[in-house]
Amino acid sequence: MKILVVGQGGREHTLVWKLAQSPLVEKIYCAPGNPGIAKIAELIPMPDRFTELADWAESQNIALTVVGPEAPLAEGIVDVFSERGLKAFGPDKRGAYLEASKDFAKQLMVKNGIPTAEHQTFTDAEEAMAYVEDRDAPVFVKANGLAAGKGVMPGRTFKEALQAVTTILVDRAFGEAGDSVVIEEELIGEEASFTVLTDGTYCLPFVSSQDHKMSHDGDTGKNTGGMGAYSPAPVITPELHDDVMQRIVYPTVNGMAAIGRPFKGVLYVGLMITDAGPKVVEFNCRFGDPEAQVLLPRLKSDLVPLLMACIDGTLEQHANVQWHDAAAACVVMASGGYPDPYQTGIVITGLEDADAIEGVTVFHAGTKQNGETIVTDGGRVLGVTAMAGGLRDAIQQAYKGVSAIHFDNAHVRDDIGYRALKRS
Ligand code: AMP
Ligand code: GLY
Repeated sequence: MKILVVGQGGREHTLVWKLAQSPLVEKIYCAPGNPGIAKIAELIPMPDRFTELADWAESQNIALTVVGPEAPLAEGIVDVFSERGLKAFGPDKRGAYLEASKDFAKQLMVKNGIPTAEHQTFTDAEEAMAYVEDRDAPVFVKANGLAAGKGVMPGRTFKEALQAVTTILVDRAFGEAGDSVVIEEELIGEEASFTVLTDGTYCLPFVSSQDHKMSHDGDTGKNTGGMGAYSPAPVITPELHDDVMQRIVYPTVNGMAAIGRPFKGVLYVGLMITDAGPKVVEFNCRFGDPEAQVLLPRLKSDLVPLLMACIDGTLEQHANVQWHDAAAACVVMASGGYPDPYQTGIVITGLEDADAIEGVTVFHAGTKQNGETIVTDGGRVLGVTAMAGGLRDAIQQAYKGVSAIHFDNAHVRDDIGYRALKRS
């Protein structure tokens, strides 16, 4: 069959890489893709309208479209494809609302008794600040809508919270996404990413993973899209896994179905493991990035039938999915300065040397082909991923891959996986 993947980051490179291993797949297209993806798929431009992409998919007999990022899902790409009878993996617009509105997600959790931080939502800056003043404790201030991972700000002091509320509600830094703010209590604990596939009824958990959101070592600096990831994450014990499935994942999926928003696709639950048990920090309606770079390589089973089963409502038949025992680690090489403004167009060397190291695969994120060379073209440039028998070795191999690659002013965290290593 022919498959179309939508997106252009490291997550989509990993999806294409995994799908290409399926004996069911004859050809993969990617819109718009990147130079790493171009080695295994044919790139096509991403048209302005989803209907144009659906026209193209129809004309090419695309049997499955896989949507990587949240923005097209929230804008209804799956609805457009489904209306034509085209199979597209991911939630429809009503389902993707779970990520696209933090206030909606909070209401769903409150209604279904799903553990999460206490919160209130505001459209008025003065009321928001009065709430912060009353609480007199550290908070997190979040733009309600999608803000490319930049809409969440800590308010550890009144001044910091005031600044965050002003940025979102008064300065409108995130446009419409900041029409309202969700202010919630700060949760204390260790974070983990919990990923499941679901057909709207049955939930198939992935192995555990953890990413590193802060820009610098020791989780200092600024919040980013993710500077690295690893799997498994030992913080998710088997007991905790069962608890998350029972008290968080199923109530979420059932709660969405009960209000006429059946959720099909990837449900990624950002968790905080607190002293009082796991609590939801956020829901995402797609694979994490860079979590996908460590989760998909660990999947031994063919991904294509799993994605198809999510669409067809037959996921339960795949309950015995197989995983590799090997651990995986991904170290992100970012442009110096990221997540603040950074330079692009810098020549990257050593990509092939890194790929030749045992267990290492280099996934492209923000790269561009420039004649014969590949140059930087984004904040997160590459995800250097390695698989090995144990996590320590996987991390070591990933860093060997990083040392083989060079671009000026590259920024890398040196401590990916430190929490897991401390436990072992
Ligand atoms: P989000 O975009 O919602 O994942 O938030 C980005 C990051 O901010 C999370 O991964 C956490 O590290 C942090 N964060 C968000 N909400 C909270 C909270 N209520 N308590 C503690 N940390 C939080
Ligand atoms: N790595 C965090 C995310 O994908 O949202």
